[in-house]
Amino acid sequence: MLLGTQRINAQGHLEIGGCDTTELAAEFGTPLYVIDEATVRANCRNYLAAFAARYPRNEIYYASKAFLTLAMARLIAQEGLYMDVASLGELYVALQAGFPVDRIALHGNNKSRLELELAVESRIKHIIVDNFFELDLLGQILQERKAEIEVLVRAAPGVDPQTHRLIRTGQADTKFGFNIADGSALQAVKCVLAHPGMRLRGVHCHIGSQLLDAETHEQAAEIMAQLMQSVVAATGAPVEEINIGGGLGVRYLPTHEPPSYAEFASRITTPLKAALDRAGLPYPILGQEPGRALVGEAGTTLYTLGAIKTVPIDTRGGTRTYAAIDGGMSDNPRPQLYEAVYSCLLANRASEPAEQTVSIAGKHCETDILIWDTPLAAPRSGDLLAVQTTGAYNHAMASNYNRFLRPAVVFVAEGGADLVVARESLEDLVRNERIPARLRAEAMSVAPASSL
Ligand code: LLP
Repeated sequence: MLLGTQRINAQGHLEIGGCDTTELAAEFGTPLYVIDEATVRANCRNYLAAFAARYPRNEIYYASKAFLTLAMARLIAQEGLYMDVASLGELYVALQAGFPVDRIALHGNNKSRLELELAVESRIKHIIVDNFFELDLLGQILQERKAEIEVLVRAAPGVDPQTHRLIRTGQADTKFGFNIADGSALQAVKCVLAHPGMRLRGVHCHIGSQLLDAETHEQAAEIMAQLMQSVVAATGAPVEEINIGGGLGVRYLPTHEPPSYAEFASRITTPLKAALDRAGLPYPILGQEPGRALVGEAGTTLYTLGAIKTVPIDTRGGTRTYAAIDGGMSDNPRPQLYEAVYSCLLANRASEPAEQTVSIAGKHCETDILIWDTPLAAPRSGDLLAVQTTGAYNHAMASNYNRFLRPAVVFVAEGGADLVVARESLEDLVRNERIPARLRAEAMSVAPASSL
């Protein structure tokens, strides 16, 4: 499985964006996140085009939680997309990057006063409100500042997609949004309309992530059209946007077959238009927030293999070979969190057949197996391992566990590589730390070991 601009060059090395990955590893070190810029751009354009061909009014918000750096924000701005942010930090990065404020939307199920204030003061495009506490808080902030802002009401449509339980959000039993069935969503709309500073823009839902078929999206589109109908019937207020969130899945394994953008677009817009036509409603803007679908397959992580060991396995009467990488759950926590699966290949011997079965082990003091039992060419210490489809929710979810240094990120395109995030340094690890006076060396009276 080669993704995006990945190819195998004459030396048998994996190339991405025209860059030989062995050269990238030599220049920038490993672990290294490599982002295939042309693929991100193509995904943005193709996603837009697929919907534009089937629905008259679209706004595509890149879900920045999937992967956000200053450079990524610039790239998304260049591609003409909008962007959703879900925290003070994401909003800050977007603003620092100079992302157009009139293309930013703010999410969050427990937004702080500071987050809401920054959003209002920066005059971002709109806020997606999640709960009544937030409606009150936002109301106060708008009143204090005599400000106005557009608002979408996040609804829980009560649909239950097939995906890992930790990334399902559309069901009724969720911490996100206002329940539709019990009337909360409609009540929230009425609160928005009653507040002089809030302008109702529309309704929103997000049903889950890494969805490999469009069925629940179809259901959600219909339910949102019905919600629009009840808003219009109950209040007479126009609904300018229906936003159905993100969630389209990507290929982590060759067996994964997410719908193409074209199929996905037609599966969503067909029932949406039918439901709107039945209700005699005008077509609102169809808002979406793809994250993973735009950046997931564009990312590859390069690791250097170190220890390789083969152990007996009682149950099978056989053996298992572990190949250890120089990273692990600190740069990719998804296998631990969601039992996520990945594909990999030896980047320095990419044309050799994958004739062994190997488990890729992280180097944390945990059983952080990144990939169980994956086909691979016989690994040797020093080989370069490329793990595919790491563009979404890898760099974004990285940690310093075991005091590891978070890896660098490079953008590759047309044979050139640009560092967009430098590897953390050891100094970075203690930069924010302070030693209280009583623990400073001169004040320390070290207890003898026997008294401990
Ligand atoms: N919109 C909202 C309101 C969301 O909560 C999310 C993702 C998205 C859009 C983008 O979803 P996407 O198109 O990327 O599926 N860390 C997990 C994924 C959590 C997704 C959270 N919300 C993972 O690594 O699988």
